[in-house]
Amino acid sequence: MTTDERDRLSAFALRVWGYKQGEVVSLMIHLGDRLGLYQAMAGRGPVTAAGLAADTGLQERWLLEWLRGQAAAGLIGTEDGEAFEMSAEAVAVLADSRGSLWFAAGAFAGGAALPEVVERLADAFRSGTGLTYDDLGPAAAQAVERMTEPWTRLALVPLILPALDGVVDHLNAGALVADVGCGSGVALCTMAAAFPGSRFEGLDPSQHAIDRARRRTAENALENLEFRTAGAKDLPGDNRYDFIMTLDCLHDMPRPAEAAAAIRGAVRPGRHVADQGNPVGSGLAGQPPQSRPGPDVRAVGDQLPVLGSVRAGRSRTRDARPSSRASRADVPGSRFLALRPARLR
Ligand SMILES: C[S@@+](CC[C@H](N)C(=O)[O-])C[C@H]1O[C@@H](n2cnc3c(N)ncnc32)[C@H](O)[C@@H]1O
Repeated sequence: MTTDERDRLSAFALRVWGYKQGEVVSLMIHLGDRLGLYQAMAGRGPVTAAGLAADTGLQERWLLEWLRGQAAAGLIGTEDGEAFEMSAEAVAVLADSRGSLWFAAGAFAGGAALPEVVERLADAFRSGTGLTYDDLGPAAAQAVERMTEPWTRLALVPLILPALDGVVDHLNAGALVADVGCGSGVALCTMAAAFPGSRFEGLDPSQHAIDRARRRTAENALENLEFRTAGAKDLPGDNRYDFIMTLDCLHDMPRPAEAAAAIRGAVRPGRHVADQGNPVGSGLAGQPPQSRPGPDVRAVGDQLPVLGSVRAGRSRTRDARPSSRASRADVPGSRFLALRPARLR
């Protein structure tokens, strides 16, 4: 591919993902309007998640993700990812439903999400307890599969694994591999076909996803892999695996620090863990949002903690990302990290 062709492709992909950004940010605008968050912030100067929680009676943890997502989307301002402020224009367009002709937040009705899901999301701000993937219905696992399948199929075996030091040698020699948060099993099915001498185990708490994974396994007549309805905490702590992957999901876990510890206890010393994160670090990582996201997709990543991450129980941590100093495979669209277990915090 020439540089020109690559630039055109990249620009077009960005345009398409911009619509996804719009979809996700739209839902967050609806929740901000519905929960009175814009009104609570209007004219107040910089406000923290704790301050907003005190004013609204909502959960600080959820408000922090919402605030950071709003900042990443360019709707509110922040210097440090901790204190956030609405500009006069933002107040006119998002908060002032009584006095501003520019008020627009009311036009956002929750997007394509089912009304009962929007209802439960709004409730999560009150209770602090989020939704699992399965709470979103069978369509959620299918949607994730649609989103990640092409990239996983096209990049994992030909590009990603060879870029991870020594991993392909282990896989060719016969390794035991786990995919934590395996979803519908696309990655493991692809790898099981490519490395018939290795054994693969997929774990995911979503029964819908595991059902899809098992169907895919049977359709491909693969015998060197199995799937369990289980989470990271269910990993055996006996250092049995040669290679553990988490693809696009550490940020989706309510307690990523515990997941990272379980992974560390399950992988053989000296062997590898690979994490593919969001295009940006999620708010769960405790990282500040991009203060100037520009017209790209980063805001999508920063909304995901609210949509899909602070799930299934109160999220107490905002920690536990693999060290960003880890080596990184340079694959377009990915943030694959090849980690030695010692580097997992
Ligand atoms: C965005 S999906 C990614 C699925 C798959 N890795 C892929 O790339 O298609 C995130 C997955 O993480 C799973 N997940 C959530 N909490 C988890 C936990 N505590 N342990 C393992 N997986 C979890 C979800 O059920 C979901 O299938």
